[in-house]
Amino acid sequence: PGTAQAADGTGRQVVIAHRGASAYAPENTLEAVDKADELGISWVENDVQRTKDGALVVIHDNTLSRTTNVEQVYPDRAPWNVRDFTAAEIAKLDAGSWKGAQFAGARIPTLHQYLERVDRNHQRLLLEIKSPELYPGIEDQILRQLGRDGWLRHSRVKHRLIVQSFSADSVKTVHQRRPDIKTGFLGTPAVADLPAYAKFADQINPSHTTISAGYVDAVHALKGPHDKPLEVFTWTVNDTANAVKAIGFGVDGIITNNPDVVRDAVDAM
Ligand code: G3P
Ligand code: CA
Repeated sequence: PGTAQAADGTGRQVVIAHRGASAYAPENTLEAVDKADELGISWVENDVQRTKDGALVVIHDNTLSRTTNVEQVYPDRAPWNVRDFTAAEIAKLDAGSWKGAQFAGARIPTLHQYLERVDRNHQRLLLEIKSPELYPGIEDQILRQLGRDGWLRHSRVKHRLIVQSFSADSVKTVHQRRPDIKTGFLGTPAVADLPAYAKFADQINPSHTTISAGYVDAVHALKGPHDKPLEVFTWTVNDTANAVKAIGFGVDGIITNNPDVVRDAVDAM
């Protein structure tokens, strides 16, 4: 067992609702956060980007097309990049109907709204800095917002927050600015390169399709910046068979659209 299991106090893998409970509610909305909570899932993952006028918003894709009605509302604004719209324009979009009529009117939350909801639910946040190369300085901006919303208080940093990115530079920046924050690098670095990542990342978070028990062992063999063994949170595992496989590899956490399914697999082990 890895350290996350011990840290969670359950002796089992941590289950993280990917973009919220996104199999059941529109991804990266407050509705998806609440759905995870309803299912009894304490960890939620999200993706943070920035609007034209500098607001931090929670959305996965770099464009608004797939998960909102932007093409109807603003037909002349192709290619509908998040960064080309103001926060007020984005707030008008329906980010729920694509997932089902019952979600009509769901909004793209600002990071502030998202943090408030996660806190209200007493949940924990795996925050992804998405495409930081498009948003210079977004790391500092996210840290300022986390601070304003109380997420940099000691107890929250210790137990309820992890910041991750596919960008090693972004993860490094967060680690340099706030060495107390737990960080994750998204990807599957070569084993020989892992020691370099262990200088600034507490977790190596790979796609489940890229790992083996040997790889997880190699990650666990290293200590991260907080002098604890590196952890592995793997993604995106949405069915029992792959959950059982990942658990067998010894991962510490499983990021999933179907957190109830994965939780049941973890509980059954
Ligand atoms: O948290 C891991 C996972 O979210 C990374 O991939 O594309 O869903 O952001 P993606
Ligand atoms: Ca993500």
